[in-house]
Amino acid sequence: MLTSLTELSHRKQNGPPLAVLTAYDYPTARLLDEAGVDLILVGDSLGMVVLGLPDTTGVTMQMMLHHTAAVRRGVKRAPIIADLPFHSYDTPEQALANARRLMEVGADAVKLEGGVGFIPQIKAIIEAGIPFVGHIGMLPQSVREEGGYKKKGKTPEQIEHIIADAIALDQAGAVAIVLESIVPDVATEITRRIRASTIGIGAGQHTDGQVLVTPDLLGSFPWFRPSFAKARCDVAGETLRAVQEYIAECQVTKA
Ligand code: KIV
Repeated sequence: MLTSLTELSHRKQNGPPLAVLTAYDYPTARLLDEAGVDLILVGDSLGMVVLGLPDTTGVTMQMMLHHTAAVRRGVKRAPIIADLPFHSYDTPEQALANARRLMEVGADAVKLEGGVGFIPQIKAIIEAGIPFVGHIGMLPQSVREEGGYKKKGKTPEQIEHIIADAIALDQAGAVAIVLESIVPDVATEITRRIRASTIGIGAGQHTDGQVLVTPDLLGSFPWFRPSFAKARCDVAGETLRAVQEYIAECQVTKA
């Protein structure tokens, strides 16, 4: 069970692989921490699974600050990573200012989506002493530009591109890198070549850890679940059952 980001390199060398989950609110964060999850990510996926937005591009800094603060109140041990949302890191100055705001409300590290093209922003964050987590491969904040969510690492050009991104982030000093929707062999190769811990989602089994969007794990967002995510309980079904039981009980009480 991880207690500090400084333990990441020891875990990369010695295992076991990292178990990472998202949280957006106090009770979920507290339960994940008590259950022993290694890292908690306040992901901008909250736009979809909490706020009902069509994708992550509508998530604002205000939203991320509000949810990061709630997660902080629930967590005693697991390091918390908070996402910098869409257009909150267009320049190095803006990236650093917003990273500082996330740290002020309780994040232990910040994450942004992008590789080689964002090195000035990433260096500004790291040089200010803020632990940084990268995110490469399929980038949800680019879904509109890309015309959908597409697996990465299928062509030689894409493979070269992703590996160059991973190496650039590693050399800049990222403590970990999320590899999203990457062909498993490419994710394995990156994991072998870099010092930072790789955390895969839809990237095969051979990364240094795995991350899931918690509502996908709990079955609490039944309207969409990616094929690689295995729901281990049916919170949506149980909620419907409990609410319908309550409705029925209310309706007979007065009669
Ligand atoms: O926002 C998020 O939940 C994420 C994960 C999908 C890695 O970035």
